[in-house]
Amino acid sequence: MTSTNDIRRGFLDYFKANGHQVVPSAPLVPHNDPTLMFVNAGMVPFKNVFTGLETRPYTTATSSQKCVRAGGKHNDLDNVGYTARHHTFFEMLGNFSFGDYFKERAIELAWGLLTKEWGLSPDRLIATVYHTDDEAFDLWKRIAGLPDSRIIRIPTKDNFWAMGPDGPSGPCSEIFFDHGDHIPGGPPGSPDEDGDRFVEIWNLVFMQHLQENDVIVSDLPKPQIDTGMGLERVAAVLQGVTDNYDTDTFKALIAASEELTHTKAEGERMASHRVIADHLRASGFLIADGVLPSNEGRGYVLRRIMRRAMRHAHLLGAKDPLMWRLVPQLVAEMGQAFTELQRAQPLIEATLLQEETRFRQTLANGLRLLDEATGRMAAGGTLPGETAFRLYDTYGFPYDLTEDALRPKGIAVDRAGFDTAMAEQKARARAAWKGSGEKASDELWYDLAEEVGATEFTGYVGHDGEGVVQAIVKDGARVETAGEGETVTLVLNQTPFYGESGGQVGDAGKLSSLKGFEGVVEDTSKPLGKLHALRTRVASGSVAVGDTLAQSVDAERRAATRANHSATHLLHAALRDVLGGHVTQKGSLVAPDRLRFDFSHPKALSLDEIARVEAEVNAEIRANEPVSTRLMTPDDAVAAGALALFGEKYGDEVRVLSMGREGADRRYSVELCGGTHVDATGDIALFKIVAESAVSSGVRRIEALTGAGALAWLNGRDQKLREAAASLKASPDEVPARIAALADANRKLERELAEAKKALAMGGGSMADATGPEDVGGTAFLGRVVEGLDPKELRSTVDAMKSEVGSGVAALVAINDGRASVAVGVSADKAGKPSAVDLVKAAVAALGGQGGGGRPDMAQGGGPDGAKADAALQAVRDALATGGA
Ligand code: ALA
Repeated sequence: MTSTNDIRRGFLDYFKANGHQVVPSAPLVPHNDPTLMFVNAGMVPFKNVFTGLETRPYTTATSSQKCVRAGGKHNDLDNVGYTARHHTFFEMLGNFSFGDYFKERAIELAWGLLTKEWGLSPDRLIATVYHTDDEAFDLWKRIAGLPDSRIIRIPTKDNFWAMGPDGPSGPCSEIFFDHGDHIPGGPPGSPDEDGDRFVEIWNLVFMQHLQENDVIVSDLPKPQIDTGMGLERVAAVLQGVTDNYDTDTFKALIAASEELTHTKAEGERMASHRVIADHLRASGFLIADGVLPSNEGRGYVLRRIMRRAMRHAHLLGAKDPLMWRLVPQLVAEMGQAFTELQRAQPLIEATLLQEETRFRQTLANGLRLLDEATGRMAAGGTLPGETAFRLYDTYGFPYDLTEDALRPKGIAVDRAGFDTAMAEQKARARAAWKGSGEKASDELWYDLAEEVGATEFTGYVGHDGEGVVQAIVKDGARVETAGEGETVTLVLNQTPFYGESGGQVGDAGKLSSLKGFEGVVEDTSKPLGKLHALRTRVASGSVAVGDTLAQSVDAERRAATRANHSATHLLHAALRDVLGGHVTQKGSLVAPDRLRFDFSHPKALSLDEIARVEAEVNAEIRANEPVSTRLMTPDDAVAAGALALFGEKYGDEVRVLSMGREGADRRYSVELCGGTHVDATGDIALFKIVAESAVSSGVRRIEALTGAGALAWLNGRDQKLREAAASLKASPDEVPARIAALADANRKLERELAEAKKALAMGGGSMADATGPEDVGGTAFLGRVVEGLDPKELRSTVDAMKSEVGSGVAALVAINDGRASVAVGVSADKAGKPSAVDLVKAAVAALGGQGGGGRPDMAQGGGPDGAKADAALQAVRDALATGGA
């Protein structure tokens, strides 16, 4: 038997040998089509090559593309488990010609592979062609030698394939395999064509036309080829079975679920095992491609798939979460061809375990409610929509899970009633809602969120991607278009632009459309915590609601922001390590050029503490361990040791970021956080604290830099050190010792200078008035004026002057910076007559000051007018002469 893995390899090798470039499967989340939930055909990643928007270095290609058909237009979810060929996840094998070969070569290649390489008997094959395509009809006759009876003309759109309302299209030709007349069913186009006997295995699309609004407007300059063959179907054919679930890959997955549930895939249990096997593949591949369960958009489709499988696990009697235990088997089967499965295995297991653990908490009660509601209902009955809504709202049953549960009983669900109950709940939520107080703009955002739902954020995994404009807001009102020079806010259905939240600033970047619009995104906010609002300046052209835009986040700015955000987490952990567990986050700012972190701590950090915090963070950076993200309930996250962020509102699910080295029971840092982070701590490169200060009592603030910013800061410091060294005429290493020596020398000089001035005041210098005492009205008086004498030296100098006088009066006026201080001393034998206090008051008045005081033998004062120093001495003389003192 040829294994599915061999068939995939054989297909790609065959087309490679025929000159085709082998292109790896694109991720399931399309990067180039914002209207598509998941890649659902092999040609999707080549869409822009077909339309001519993009060129590649090859003109023929082949791939085995991962596809998901669940949610959106193509939704096979409801049928999976109950039919032979429906899947939520499948692989589409394809070969493509971008203006190279056309119909003839495409048919030749297909026929050659099926009949020569794979050895299928030509008798078992049938081709269909579009009813007017005589050329294809003739080619099948000539190349394959098929008789007219086995080339069936089909007039319906089954044989005319279009990518969408706009874009390339063309007639197609399908190849069917006939399993033989022991299987019921008729050939294509016949009334019983839906039977299992004739199975479509390959669709060859002859892309020839260009459509607009579903109407062919022109022919493509060069016709092209797009083909699609379901790997699972062709594997069934080549393995001689009629049911995709009987192929090797599915048999292995089903065997694993049989073993773990101790049940056989027989009878009514068959569907459950098939659902589990199929949904395991879809869930595993979606998680590996970055989709995580949520209540909106792609994440909700994943959740519906997961929960549908989990209900079937419950039906099989699984006592514990089952799905995650099947992941090793999935990786064993498909991990070689898709290494992303190996890489993401721990994440897939943890996500499945988490989801199933949580869902099981309400599953039994929900099923009981469902049983009660349908207990006496006969086949053909309808479950009220309100009950389906309660199951959804209270027990986490997605709508289609309820349908699936009632399907075997032949009971339908009232969809309209479900929708009404949902609408009523929304109305109640609105009535209870209180905005931020800015009524007009709050209501605009609320209405918009109701209308378009949460913006899907695609920026955890990339910086680029398309999106469809859902609303344009200008000056607080919605508008339909915006033109050059206007600044407006755009909301798109999906965006890689991060909206400011959790301390991290919003992204900036560029937008453009094929219609010539160029926009500059200056900032992104996140109204109501779920819409991403891009403040955009229209640089050229215009933008309208409904336009598809290419979006590109400023990658350098984002990378710097990511480094700062991750560094904030490491800093938080380091602070708790160094200062203690009382440290909790009180706020943060994460910008591209800096980070700021506020935390509770009663006192300033010492230099040593700062150095230890820095050293710890840098050690984690150097360890360069990958950063991991898990989705959990807030309670589980906190139980796992995660630090919850201050002031954040948490939804049903939180992202848990773990980084740094493994410790005794958890990694260095585990935090709840919705921000964007580095892939590995080494990306932060360097961490440097540049400021530590108080915010309020008990709250400290650290400001820090990372990466290039930290290096630039250190270089700036280094440059200043070099400048200091140059002016000291020393090397940078000698700077501290040289400065200490200079400071010492300076202190010594200051001391000497003070001494010198004092000596000068005492007459030891060449001062003009440094004469001896004079006689004033019978009292010996020594008066001097000195500049620059430290006022502290005033009294000791006057004391010295007093001894010089012997019996009498000494007065000294010292001028500093234009102001004057004055001290007067009276020798003890005068017994306070005159009083130094009275004399100093006279001097102070002359200096334009007030007061002055002390003891009768020593008094001091001062005045603003240093120029009056001589007048002040004269005032003392006058007071002495008149004896008025
Ligand atoms: N694009 C074609 C299909 O999906 C091959 O069937």
